[in-house]
Amino acid sequence: MGTIQEEIKRRRTFAIISHPDAGKTTLTEKFLLFGGAIQTAGAVKNNKITKTAASDFMEIERQRGISVATSVMAFHYKDRLINLLDTPGHRDFAEDTYRTLTAVDSVILVVDCVKGVEAQTERLMEVCRMRNTPVIVFINKMDLEGQDPFDLLDELEEKLQIQVRPLSWPISGGQSFKGVYSLYQKELRLFNPDKTKIAKEVLSIEDIADPLLDDLVTTEHAEQLRKDVELIEGVYEEWDASPYLEGELAPVFFGSAVNNFGIQEMLDTFIEIAPDPRPRSTDVREVVPTEPKFTGFIFKIHANIDPRHRDRIAFMRVCSGQFKRNTFFTHTRLQKKLKFANPATFLAQDKNLVDEAWPGDVVGLYDTGTFKIGDTMTEGEDMQFRGIPSFSPEIFKELVNKDPMKSKQLEKGIQQLTDEGVAQLFVRELGNRKIVGTVGELQFEVIQYRLEHEYGAKCEFQAKKYYKACWIVSEDEKKLEEFKRIKGTEMVKDKDGNDVFLAPSKFLLDMEISNYPDLTFHFTSEFKTAQAS
Ligand code: G4P
Repeated sequence: MGTIQEEIKRRRTFAIISHPDAGKTTLTEKFLLFGGAIQTAGAVKNNKITKTAASDFMEIERQRGISVATSVMAFHYKDRLINLLDTPGHRDFAEDTYRTLTAVDSVILVVDCVKGVEAQTERLMEVCRMRNTPVIVFINKMDLEGQDPFDLLDELEEKLQIQVRPLSWPISGGQSFKGVYSLYQKELRLFNPDKTKIAKEVLSIEDIADPLLDDLVTTEHAEQLRKDVELIEGVYEEWDASPYLEGELAPVFFGSAVNNFGIQEMLDTFIEIAPDPRPRSTDVREVVPTEPKFTGFIFKIHANIDPRHRDRIAFMRVCSGQFKRNTFFTHTRLQKKLKFANPATFLAQDKNLVDEAWPGDVVGLYDTGTFKIGDTMTEGEDMQFRGIPSFSPEIFKELVNKDPMKSKQLEKGIQQLTDEGVAQLFVRELGNRKIVGTVGELQFEVIQYRLEHEYGAKCEFQAKKYYKACWIVSEDEKKLEEFKRIKGTEMVKDKDGNDVFLAPSKFLLDMEISNYPDLTFHFTSEFKTAQAS
């Protein structure tokens, strides 16, 4: 164990994100292989939800049980301690991914070289941009006939609204893929399709004019590489890590995850340039990781859906100080002191760490319903971490109770499930009607199933045609009251009691925005931070 400064410096906490099928799972697995955390390929695969039926989801959850091993994967690589946070690949669980992104310090975004930037890639990038999260892009599947690399870079800049800077460059692609040239390390790696081994043929080529290059990759490809590198050096500015750390520039790597190719260069560069645990803002002040007193927040709650063991694990990101087992900390929302006898950490190789955790680490806390997403733990200071916004859901349905004898169970069940972040709950004060909002249809099936199996309550969902949920605030109380009165049934409260307008259509929303200039319509719940920054 080192000093707090040493422990922080060592840590890299990040997530791999991608549009489904771009290669996130494969890349994760290769990282774990490099880190020695797993011995064979295929170990991470079973975590994937490929089908869209709730029954498949439920089956996977049941198999995983409370084993949260793949939610956070911690491993050593060189002298670093890497915390890789898993994000669900399924689009319907996008909210879960957004929340996980609040707990990381940087991300690696995987893009398929054939498909380029896809819908989910854009949305994920938007979330990264909101928080200025540093992004490294990995262009995957270079063994397939993909788009021209320059076109891909242009597409990244245009669709993701971020400047890019290649740090490696492919030599041809598809059938004739020869390898990548590292512009950063000035090294050539020759491609050798092999799913099990790690590319070893690394050649240091200081000067690409060297005729050795022609021998290695043919004159045609060597000439092309020289031209490309000249163009890159002409177009892109010299590599500088500071705009990357500000979230303004994304370094780009090319490779093939399934072939274990181009990954080590990226990992080596990653541990060098990626940020160590960063400060985080709260409602009262910014918390710096080196502060001696412990703070942390809950960004994810994983429930065991087996009704015989209804326990949950709350995932807490440590933000400052040192977390210790069996030590009392304050749950600031409840103003309650709690201690944890069996906090779970996720480092398979190093059992000593179970008793303590440092900034950047994630601790799993066994929970029986005390935690909500966003809850803050401290050594007594009253504060609440910010930056865990809710986004407007895309699908809205009204929850209808099908068994009046079980309304208490239904009430408790839906509260707990929404505290876990399975979906968002909006309550219409008049008549206590409940509108559930999600990103995908799958969650409704999951909620219905879980309410029945875990809480013994039966429900049905009635589709509601809303376009968006908008969080509404105004300095002018009177105007706000007037709007609320006029909108009547379209006004609801979110989980924290904020006023939310469920806009029926884009047209009507635009109209209200121009009719009510004194009101501000926000599309995420965390408008206070958005305004302040
Ligand atoms: P995801 O987690 O982002 O959804 O993607 P995942 O890693 O599961 O990869 C999606 C598919 O792309 C997989 O094929 C995987 O083998 C393949 N893949 C990943 N990297 C590369 C690459 O560099 N080149 C090529 N050609 N394919 C790659 P699958 O058929 O869906 O699964 P599997 O049966 O191969 O496991």
